[in-house]
Amino acid sequence: MSERSVAVVTGAASGIGRETVDQLLTEGWNVVAADVNSHNGERLLSEVDAACLPDRVEFVRTDVSDEAQVEAAINRAPERFGRLDSVINNAGVGGAFGPVTELEVEDWDYTFAVVTRGVFLGTKYAARVLKEAGHGGTIVNTGSLAGISGGAGPQAYSAAKAAVINFTRATAVELAQWRIRVNSVSPGFILTPILGSGGRHIERLQEDIQPWPETGRPHHVASVICFLAGPASSFVTGESINVDGGVTAAGPRVGDTVGGDPAARGLVGVARGSTGHESVVHRRIDRPDSAVVQRGT
Ligand SMILES: NC(=O)c1ccc[n+]([C@@H]2O[C@H](COP(=O)([O-])OP(=O)(O)OC[C@H]3O[C@@H](n4cnc5c(N)ncnc54)[C@H](O)[C@@H]3O)[C@@H](O)[C@H]2O)c1
Repeated sequence: MSERSVAVVTGAASGIGRETVDQLLTEGWNVVAADVNSHNGERLLSEVDAACLPDRVEFVRTDVSDEAQVEAAINRAPERFGRLDSVINNAGVGGAFGPVTELEVEDWDYTFAVVTRGVFLGTKYAARVLKEAGHGGTIVNTGSLAGISGGAGPQAYSAAKAAVINFTRATAVELAQWRIRVNSVSPGFILTPILGSGGRHIERLQEDIQPWPETGRPHHVASVICFLAGPASSFVTGESINVDGGVTAAGPRVGDTVGGDPAARGLVGVARGSTGHESVVHRRIDRPDSAVVQRGT
């Protein structure tokens, strides 16, 4: 039996999950890769084979909304590799979309079954194995920017991801006494197949709402997942880390849109509001030599 750390990754056959498998392998982990898409799972195995690491990954076709399948995938880690250290509940779909008045109940339920039930089941069986083993461990859930705001995804997906983020906090509190840490990552806009045709607009998105001047890619998120899965984050639990190139930090960018931020108009100075003292524009950035005093802004 191996003494390497062992992870189960769901949604492992594409995008963020696929990159997480690679980064875990590079860091020396063994991995059970779980995904509902067998075709992409086979491709993952052949790529891992080509990298000469066939004995360190097992693919298990798993639908994360199915309790028996999740239990089997997680139990596969100790069966095949002798232990379990981390479960990464990452599988996801965009789910139901359209005006709320038109949403079908079965599409709403499908969204929650994959996004939220999948995380619940992954946590349930991870905690069983880890508690029994008694050596602690980690659970990392993939949330979303959509789970912390109203405008970043369809209604069902947003609600389901909000549930994932708070389920993470609740289970972190419950499981801390067994040294099981539970955290989530919330990606912003990451170029993966889940964006569908929306991926075409990612560069415009970057210009309009994302401060960091680089396209979000799976490796940006995978490295944070690996940090939360491993010992470097040993005092972090119940946390949600946004991996969004500063989108959340920027907020609604009202200043840029309605001109309320003088910096956007190239001005430098100090606003003293309704104190009765003067607000001052020291200079314009485009004409640094010009000094203007502006009263009463
Ligand atoms: N890409 C983004 O911009 C973005 C933003 C926020 C959150 N996320 C989240 O990141 C996670 C990974 O998504 P991604 O961007 O890599 O997309 P992706 O489509 O590339 O990968 C998602 C994987 O989940 C698998 N999956 C879907 N339903 C499943 C099920 N029932 N059981 C098992 N596997 C299932 C798919 O087969 C696929 O391999 C998801 O939870 C997604 O909601 C992505």
